[in-house]
Amino acid sequence: MADMQDEGEMTTGNMFQRPKGVHDILPDTHEYFTFIKKVVRHRARQSGFRRISTPIFEFTDVFARAVGADTDIVSKEMYTFQDRKGRSLTLKPEGTAGTVRAYIQHNMHTLAQPVELYYIEPHFRYDRPQKGRFRQFWQYGFEVIGESDPALDAQLIYLAQTITEDLGVAGLFKLQINSIGCMNEKCRPHFMSDLKNFYFGKERSLCADCKTRVETNPLRLLDCKLEDCRILAELAPKMKDYLCEECREFHKQLLDLLKELGVEYVENSSLVRGLDYYTKTVFEFWDRALGAQNAICGGGRYDGLIELMGGAPTPAVGFAAGIERIVDNMKREKIRVPKKDDLHVFVAQLGYEAKKKCLTLMTKLREAGIKTIGALGKDSIKAQLRHADRFQVPYTIIIGITEVRDKTAIIRDMKRGSQEIVAYGKVVEEMKKMLGKERLDTYSPGEVLY
Ligand code: HAM
Repeated sequence: MADMQDEGEMTTGNMFQRPKGVHDILPDTHEYFTFIKKVVRHRARQSGFRRISTPIFEFTDVFARAVGADTDIVSKEMYTFQDRKGRSLTLKPEGTAGTVRAYIQHNMHTLAQPVELYYIEPHFRYDRPQKGRFRQFWQYGFEVIGESDPALDAQLIYLAQTITEDLGVAGLFKLQINSIGCMNEKCRPHFMSDLKNFYFGKERSLCADCKTRVETNPLRLLDCKLEDCRILAELAPKMKDYLCEECREFHKQLLDLLKELGVEYVENSSLVRGLDYYTKTVFEFWDRALGAQNAICGGGRYDGLIELMGGAPTPAVGFAAGIERIVDNMKREKIRVPKKDDLHVFVAQLGYEAKKKCLTLMTKLREAGIKTIGALGKDSIKAQLRHADRFQVPYTIIIGITEVRDKTAIIRDMKRGSQEIVAYGKVVEEMKKMLGKERLDTYSPGEVLY
């Protein structure tokens, strides 16, 4: 995928390169993006979700507080800068913090609860670029704010799964699920204290990151990917043995509901997620072959976040999926998406008078939903027809000096190589008939409701 490969240097010779970790979405890849957005919008509307876009940058504290100062995202991966008045701003590394900020700022608690929102947005993380890991990447995400019930978590996971099914990649991934409990003293805090005790004196066997995590973020010790850390994590206490009664019952019901919905899952006690706001449910869709690496989707419940961000205590649950990773998998699986970019007609002309006729004809064809391009330069008809071949259009319309004089046009069927002469005033009607109604690309601004 040339547009998603990494370059790195600012220039090669005299030529600019894109910065490391970002990519161009070239037209062939855009077809996948367009299709994915369409599927997401369709599934969102079907379940009553409404779209939200939060700004590309927020005050840095929005992310520091929501995601957690000791997480990798906040401590290592944010694109932070000062504006001209010295305020610290950050390009959004994820979508939940901004959505929650907007929920509180716009008093959405006064709307019917839960408020169901979705977004399709670019995000930015100063991650180490590698396959499927970019510094600018797109996510679609869903957030359900204002109610707590395992049925909501189940429904949301089902939605995440349905979208991957629609996109043809569901079979490649498996849902991993866990509960990381709540902030009740007897629940996660008790577990954390035992976890720290377990690691006490074993720091020497840990990687450099995990050595600091013992103090700053012990939960993340459980999902380190390095061999030695994993061996210790296997032996460490398990959150499921510490869940309070409420969290245990919540999780039990969730698993039961997932079974009811026919969603396959793996209970994974080391799944903790890399963002601090989660409570109870956490989940990810892992690649069946690669595991945690390149998960396409992740999420969970965040019942404490709205209060932490200055709102009233409000439960919530959500997930986000990485669009580039999905596109990559779709391409690898040779999944093709419906193309809307195919052109219908190429218009060729010879002489200034013919060019004038062609310009108006092209506008009329386009208005009628016929996707049209034309050669308005000075090439010979032969060169223009060669050009038409490269666009693989089914029809070419030719207007030369004779056609201008006779008020006609030639319509050439490019596949058959046959052609017919049609009155200039009838070309649009004739083309519509030839293409058939279903192939036309019409939209009517007149559909706006006042
Ligand atoms: P996350 O797991 O950090 O969760 O990201 C969600 C998905 O975004 C990942 O599963 C992955 O597919 C994609 N992704 C993350 N980082 C990158 C990257 N550097 N390059 C390419 N793709 C990437 C969140 O962002 C949470 N806000 C999800 C959530 C919503 N939780 C509750 N509501």
